Amino acid sequence: MTQFGPGSPPLRGTIHVPGDKSLSHRAVLFSAMAEGTTQVSGVLDSADVRSTIGAVRTLGAHVELSEQPDRSLAGSVRGWGASCPAAWQPVVDCGNSGTTARLLMGVLASWPITVTLTGDESLSKRPMRRVTEPLTEMGAHFETAEGGTLPITVEGCARLTALDYNSPVASAQVKSAVLLAGLHANGVTRVTEPALSRDHTERLLPAYGVRVETDAEHCAAAVEGPVSLDAAGKIAVPRDPSSAAFLTAAALLVPGSKVVLPGVSLNETRTGFLRVLERMGADVEVVPWPETGAERVGEIVAKYSPELRATIVTASEIPAMVDEIPILALVAARASGETRFEGVGELRVKESDRLAAIVDGLTALGAEARADGDTLIVSGPAALGGAQLDSLGDHRLAMTWAVAGLVAIEPVAVERFEAVAVSYPGFAADLKQLAAPPE
Ligand code: S3P
Repeated sequence: MTQFGPGSPPLRGTIHVPGDKSLSHRAVLFSAMAEGTTQVSGVLDSADVRSTIGAVRTLGAHVELSEQPDRSLAGSVRGWGASCPAAWQPVVDCGNSGTTARLLMGVLASWPITVTLTGDESLSKRPMRRVTEPLTEMGAHFETAEGGTLPITVEGCARLTALDYNSPVASAQVKSAVLLAGLHANGVTRVTEPALSRDHTERLLPAYGVRVETDAEHCAAAVEGPVSLDAAGKIAVPRDPSSAAFLTAAALLVPGSKVVLPGVSLNETRTGFLRVLERMGADVEVVPWPETGAERVGEIVAKYSPELRATIVTASEIPAMVDEIPILALVAARASGETRFEGVGELRVKESDRLAAIVDGLTALGAEARADGDTLIVSGPAALGGAQLDSLGDHRLAMTWAVAGLVAIEPVAVERFEAVAVSYPGFAADLKQLAAPPE
């Protein structure tokens, strides 16, 4: 049990949040798939990314990464290239990481080997048919637990058929899995989504010599196979906007705060939370840096904002802030009026049932929150009291309830706070540094 608050001194200073989780997974995985050696830097050192590093090692890639002064990982990845993964061990443990499991299914779909993917209790409950169904259409074979979940045994097929796939969900993991399988299918594999999910796969694959056609207006992306990946030279991973969102929110809510977050990815498919906070009257300045690569990067400066107001977030906006809804809901509890987050049904199948957990947690803190179908409704402003809240092993809930403690009038005790290790192991240390800046 870790206790936060009651309240907090002003949060002041500059924090280099860790590397982006989505891009770290992809930089490691694509380098493992490529012919030759890629140098990667800025890679997030967290439990989730370690699942991907462990997985590609198990499959025969050589990964030599070491910890840097800013706690990121940097070094080289030598891939298995055009030859099949060596598959030293037939079982790959994906831990808590949905990205590891789902993207790997796309990679393994085209190799004539049999590999079993396992995961922890949370990952073993998450829906996988959204990936196994399109990949089965392409020719791969899957044996799943009842309910279509992990553990899943993948039997790849060397002659995959290209697919024009209309995905029923806006999911970057589904899109990426199908596109990665499409690299080894004959012809054009296209994925169309109901709304545009994060586009890191589309932006990063060209660094490995793969052409990706995108049509943002129609939320579509396509690759033409067969094509193999060449080593990418150097890949520098920017800092994670999802991690930055927690410190941004903390600065907005704690009186007297000013927090500066340099080097954060400003990819538009990730920064929906900044657009929503702006509508809510938050004092957040975003300073883009000169463009150097495929991802926009810049600095976020967030200041205490006493006059936050409610907003309506529509379903098509959600994919660009899907991981930020818990912390945005907490901000909404401190804003005046009724905030509505429409079309957030996907939250039920994240690392926990986040929709239920947000409603329960905010209610326990004394705020007004409810779910109406797939809409989350939060009314404010509420004076937050103390509570004992379980993270449910979900990193984003652990960080949300920690921030709640910084504005509550009684302490907030977070059970299983250690779940933050999944994406932001140094979160509590960074909060502490902001609360007591070095002289
Ligand atoms: C991710 C995609 C998102 C997000 C997850 C990481 C990715 O899930 O929630 O934390 O790296 O592709 P979706 O599959 O719902 O887009």
